[in-house]
Parts: sequence; C-alpha cells; structure tokens
Amino acid sequence: MSVLPILIHPDPRLKKAAEPVGEVTDELRQLADDMLETMYKAPGIGLAAPQVGVLSRLLVMDCVKEEGAAPRPMALFNPEVVWASDDVSTYEEGCLSIPDQYADVDRPAEVRVRWVDRDGAECEEHFTGLWSTCVQHEIDHLDGKLFIDYLKPLRRQMITRKMVKLKRERARA
Ligand code: NI
Repeated sequence: MSVLPILIHPDPRLKKAAEPVGEVTDELRQLADDMLETMYKAPGIGLAAPQVGVLSRLLVMDCVKEEGAAPRPMALFNPEVVWASDDVSTYEEGCLSIPDQYADVDRPAEVRVRWVDRDGAECEEHFTGLWSTCVQHEIDHLDGKLFIDYLKPLRRQMITRKMVKLKRERARA
C-alpha cells in the first residue's frame, strides 16, 4: 500500500463530476486500499478519489472514533443517497483538500446510501450522526462539490485565498 498525494483546493480536478465505476477491478481495489492508508495517515475520516486526482466514483471512510474500538474501513463504489431525512443536523466540517479550515454545514441528519463494495456486491445502509455527514461530504466530492460551497461567498473566497497562499508556500518549500 502507498500513501498518495492529496490535491489541495483550488484545483480543477476537485470541481469535476467523477465517472461511475464499471467492474471493480484489482486496480480499483488497490486504489481503495491506498486511499484508506492515505486517509488514516492524514489523519482523516473520509477521502474521495478526486482528492487523489482520480475522477472515479469511489470514496473511503472510517468514522469510528471511540478509543480502543475496532476500525471500520469502508470502500464505497458508485455510492448514491437513496433516502434522506427531513431532519437536519449541523456539523463543523473540514476537508483534507482544505487543510485547517472548518465551518458549520447543515445536512440531512440521516441518509440511506446504496453502493457497490470491493467484492462487487450491492450494499445499502442507513447512516446517522458523523457517518451520515461524512458520507454526504464525500459523495459531494464525486459531484465536484466542496463543503465551502455551502458557505457564504465572502467566507468561501477568504478560505480559497488562504489555500492559494498555502499552495504557493508548499511549492516553494
Ligand atoms: Ni473533503
């Protein structure tokens, strides 16, 4: 397994809709494993393929945060929300492509998501709490959408300017 470089906003690849995955191949399973390793190392709780420059509908996540609890690494191919609650919850979100920036985002509190797993099997699960927020945030990435797109334009521009500066500093380092 290997740790992949994570794209930092602004990047045109983070604004594009990703393509559906056909058959889940060994190459895609390898990509999912590499993305999980990249996510754990960051550390983060979710990562979408466009964030590592691959425009395929794949996301990985693990929102287990209780200390000592077993990890639950998940890889979701072609995930889609098939039901969303009217109830809304607010979480302070962040993103590995927008380091050190956090903001409150409202989303449906609970969602039912359908996807294809690493063995090609169809799955469906009801997500609540942090899992629900995370899976929606990651599916947004597959549609070229970032959590800052939910913020007021001024706040979004401020964060984008900070990221442009960060990228410039990193390029120089
Ligand atoms: Ni993100």
